[in-house]
Amino acid sequence: MISVVIIGSGNVAKHLIKAFLKIENVNLKQVYTRNLEDEALLKSSVSTTSDLSLIKEADVTIIAVSDDAIANISYNLKNAFVVHTSGSVEMKALKNQKNKGVFYLLQSFSKEKEINFSTIPICLEAENKSDLAKLEKLASLLQGNIYHLSSLQRKKIHVAAVFVNNFTNHMYTIAYNICEEHNVPFDILEPLIEETSQKIKNLTPKEAQTGPAKRNDIETIKNHLNLLSKSQQELYLKITQSIQNHGKEL
Ligand SMILES: NC(=O)c1ccc[n+]([C@@H]2O[C@H](COP(=O)([O-])OP(=O)(O)OC[C@H]3O[C@@H](n4cnc5c(N)ncnc54)[C@H](OP(=O)(O)O)[C@@H]3O)[C@@H](O)[C@H]2O)c1
Repeated sequence: MISVVIIGSGNVAKHLIKAFLKIENVNLKQVYTRNLEDEALLKSSVSTTSDLSLIKEADVTIIAVSDDAIANISYNLKNAFVVHTSGSVEMKALKNQKNKGVFYLLQSFSKEKEINFSTIPICLEAENKSDLAKLEKLASLLQGNIYHLSSLQRKKIHVAAVFVNNFTNHMYTIAYNICEEHNVPFDILEPLIEETSQKIKNLTPKEAQTGPAKRNDIETIKNHLNLLSKSQQELYLKITQSIQNHGKEL
């Protein structure tokens, strides 16, 4: 049995709470939330507090709050082993006096969307072997795929994740707006979106690249630019140049 306390009640915290409550060998002792009226927490059986001085001791105390609040919150914790869940914050940003670590789930979490933890890479970091073993146990109880990354490696991977997830999703937003503007359902692009993500299971991204930028079809590129707003043109040109340069220096 491993005991856990969670600090926070946002996206990541909620998914972790739900998952831990289902695992027999995890004792979720307490959740810290600023909002004791939170409906999902009220419905669950978990004990809550909004007072950091009343946090219980646990094998692992997980801070799952906004990146900017991690340092301040950790400063107030006396628990033996405190970790955060951020991809871009260094382990040493934790200001608790005792042991520190990181439990970073490399996935995009939204409140409304169920998460299958067995497909998630869980990136671990700790100051010593026995703490790392606690995180490995927790990650394996969640059935995640364990990776040991240093703070620097995790920060680099987080940037890569911003490219594949956040930026890709923003491209979907632009495409969605173009579809809407011209009364074509966005569904028409779904098979293409599926194929794009499936293809890189067998090809490198460079091998999978197609399109006017890759072929250097100047006329098509000019025609596309004429169909776009000024800000879309700037983005289109930057990405076209980047594709032609294989993602290296522009
Ligand atoms: N979302 C993702 O896809 C994802 C994936 C991997 C890692 N992460 C990391 O996980 C952490 C949590 O992200 P999230 O997406 O769950 O964030 P979120 O949904 O925005 O929730 C943030 C939580 O932090 C609390 N909080 C913010 N400032 C606070 C403060 N000053 N004092 C106390 N509590 C404070 C919020 O409380 P209130 O509700 O009271 O405002 C809320 O419970 C971040 O470090 C993030 O980088 C996120």
